[in-house]
Amino acid sequence: MKIEWHIGHPNEWQADALVFFVFENASEYLPGLKGFLEGAGKWLDGSTALLDFRAKPNEVAVLYAPAPNAPVPRVLLAGLGPAERFEAEKIKNAAAFALRKCRELGIERVGIPISALDGFCAEASPCANGKTPGEALLREALTGALTGLHRFDEMKTKNSAVPAGPESIMLLSDTSPGPLLKDSADLARAEAAGIVLARDLTISPANRVTPGFIADTASQISARFGFKIEVIDLESAQSLGLGAFAAVAKGSREPACFIVIEHAPPGDRNGPPIVFIGKGITFDTGGISLKPANKLEAMKQDMAGAASVLGAFEVIGRTGLDRRVVGILPCTENMPGGQAYKPGDVFRSYSGQTIEIISTDAEGRLVLCDALAYAADRYKPALMVDIATLTGACIVALGNNVAAVLGNREELVRSIEKIGASVGERFWALPLWDFYFEALKSDVADMKNVGDRTAGTIVGASFLKQFVPEKIPWAHLDIAGTAWTDSDTGASPKGATGFGVRTLFEIARRWPGL
Ligand code: BES
Ligand code: MN
Ligand code: ZN
Repeated sequence: MKIEWHIGHPNEWQADALVFFVFENASEYLPGLKGFLEGAGKWLDGSTALLDFRAKPNEVAVLYAPAPNAPVPRVLLAGLGPAERFEAEKIKNAAAFALRKCRELGIERVGIPISALDGFCAEASPCANGKTPGEALLREALTGALTGLHRFDEMKTKNSAVPAGPESIMLLSDTSPGPLLKDSADLARAEAAGIVLARDLTISPANRVTPGFIADTASQISARFGFKIEVIDLESAQSLGLGAFAAVAKGSREPACFIVIEHAPPGDRNGPPIVFIGKGITFDTGGISLKPANKLEAMKQDMAGAASVLGAFEVIGRTGLDRRVVGILPCTENMPGGQAYKPGDVFRSYSGQTIEIISTDAEGRLVLCDALAYAADRYKPALMVDIATLTGACIVALGNNVAAVLGNREELVRSIEKIGASVGERFWALPLWDFYFEALKSDVADMKNVGDRTAGTIVGASFLKQFVPEKIPWAHLDIAGTAWTDSDTGASPKGATGFGVRTLFEIARRWPGL
């Protein structure tokens, strides 16, 4: 889909449909639409469709001009709910629902009046979360439209007639857009591409998205943006000493890959990088500690962390970030094969610390602990952030719309909560006091991989903490609940969400001034 700017007086606007965002109980349209409503759009005033439109979130109404040859024959009203409860997420989802309606109606050219976004909050609502400037609203609306239209239908053979969506979004304005607005349109396009990439990888079945497939995807991204890429196979991983990763990988016949991707721009080739680490279990059976069969197919999503790191790299590549960033993706299946690791086994991790396996289903922390230690050893990072569908306990604690954030710096954890909120990804901090490690003391090794199952998310993070040198700021993001949605929010249709892509990118963009 194209995104283009059209500059001109509202009476010159031409589109197959315009999209207006409307607050619930608003007595008038947004002030920015005045020019249109007093001129070419005068007909809107008496429209009977307005009788039933309440502007609830997700509600979309289609209003038709009295004459079909009008320069703008349709206006779509997209509901935002009450102005007092406005947040950026509302416009993201409203734009998604409006654009999907356009697709349903076969509309090709959709106009969004920018004047309706500028000063939107200041004029129309007190904005609970502070003033949301026009460029931020535009970014949300476009991200919502682009991600909300995306479907994963590559594997369906019988839907070829379904249109992909409108041909173009035209951003209409009577004055030339400033650089902030222009940039936010580009940013939205880049972010949407990253999110879509992460979603497609995560929703794809495990017989397609194997560790090798993730490595190929990472190589393609690298070729496109000039990233460095290294794919370490199981044998090399063994000899490098990545013993915890290898323990998980050896039960599977599908070749494992420990992937390292690096963006080293000319201005920051060798500086201490930000390192993002993503759990890449392409299918989690639980291993010998086998999971029950019910909903087991959902465990194809256990590489969502790796997918969101790759999604963030897609955004980094498209926006040309001027900072060094490394991504580490330990990818393998977790299978109960004849060579599989077993409860009671002890392995030596890359850090040198030994781990007694209690459950082979606590595999995520094993692949991550080697990635963390490897990153700390090889890259002397300025910051490490790992992201993983790590614990079912996270879903118990926070549900499906909130991810957990833990780390070794209070300020970092708080910043991630704030950054997440600013891009519509909710994070909630959990504590990480040292005593949580008591649960992981082992009789035969330096630690066990599972505790007594209380405080599961924290104990998982506490395990990872043992592999992070205190001097490196580190955060752990548990996205077990948020990587997938069973309901359609608009911008996030049913399935994989791409959660984390925006937060990771935003961390990289803002660091060190989080
Ligand atoms: N991949 C799972 C966690 C998970 C559960 C992700 C549900 C997404 C949805 C992880 O590897 C796992 O099995 N964790 C165990 C840990 C336990 C053995 C300490 C769990 O949550 O039960
Ligand atoms: Mn598991
Ligand atoms: Zn897992």
